[in-house]
Amino acid sequence: MTNQEYRIAVFAGDGVGPEIMNEAIKVLTTLADKKNIRISLKDGLIGGSAYDAFGTPFPDQSLNLALESDAVLLGAVGGPKWEGLDYSVRPERALLGLREKLGLYANLRPVVVFDELVDASPLKKNLVQGIDIMILRELTGDVYFGKPRGVSKDKDGLRTGINTMIYNEEEIRRIAVRAFELARARRKSLLSVDKANVLESTELWRSVVTETGRDYPDIELKHMYVDNCAMQLVRNPSQFDVIVTTNLFGDILSDEAAMLTGSIGMLPSASLGETSALYEPIHGSAPDIAGKNIANPLATILSVALMLRHSFNMPQEASWVEKAVADVLKEGWRTQDIYSAGTKLTGTEEMGTAVVRQLVSRIF
Ligand code: IPM
Ligand code: MG
Repeated sequence: MTNQEYRIAVFAGDGVGPEIMNEAIKVLTTLADKKNIRISLKDGLIGGSAYDAFGTPFPDQSLNLALESDAVLLGAVGGPKWEGLDYSVRPERALLGLREKLGLYANLRPVVVFDELVDASPLKKNLVQGIDIMILRELTGDVYFGKPRGVSKDKDGLRTGINTMIYNEEEIRRIAVRAFELARARRKSLLSVDKANVLESTELWRSVVTETGRDYPDIELKHMYVDNCAMQLVRNPSQFDVIVTTNLFGDILSDEAAMLTGSIGMLPSASLGETSALYEPIHGSAPDIAGKNIANPLATILSVALMLRHSFNMPQEASWVEKAVADVLKEGWRTQDIYSAGTKLTGTEEMGTAVVRQLVSRIF
């Protein structure tokens, strides 16, 4: 057996990014050492910190580093310091640039409610217990990238803003295929979310998803309008398993679904293309708590698990990391965002150390 080396680009980013990344790297390197997995980690700058150093949030050397890697691990980007900047150099542009340049069209956002955290949800316990939803968001099309776009002014000075909601059938088909494959590996049911009663681009979406479904007779396919889905997610979330949807709808629905779990600090994500992949927590850079050792590193640690599963084909190792996280929660350790009476408050670094301890005891 060859001992392949996995090259990982590490973009810690801004705000709490560096702190949470430290803990994720601690978990990853522990696993690599113990299981003799060869990894090479290379740091790069992205977002506000890259803007400060190079005048651009997405320098060429960072793009090249990402292109040369097997996987990218990202912390978070952005902060008030850069909010006044022109759109073209805002930290968020780096994220969009990475998605576009690496062709990361399939964004997996698992929404899992850990039993231990069921009280952290603003919804009633009986509604959220056992929730395990996979949102698959298309990530390189739609109004995010559609042209024409921009703000123009006519001769009378009237300003008009425009963005274009656009999908071609190939873009729809490739995400639909991913969705059916995901559904097949889970509970064999797929919900496609659109606004086909009003928007032609999503009428095409519905047709192409339905056509693709003919190759997956074992999967039960349903469709739902996005407004109804937004309502159902709060009314009865346990009806959902795999949800596939467009870029914009997925952006909105995934934030809504994240709140079912009580803390956005728990949720990892994977963005997959044909040859590249990026893993990041779905939360932002939380500049208000940066540098205080109070941020929750678990979403980033769980992103490492997604990387092991989807980029390195190591499902066993991935589930060790996930179980180590669950064990730490069982022991009662909580960062501030998921703290409740009767549990034990801990810091970012200590939380990472606790996961490492559980992981080591699981491996040996
Ligand atoms: C997300 C974020 C991004 C998006 C922003 C930061 C550009 O909200 O990843 O969901 O809108 O896609
Ligand atoms: Mg979002």
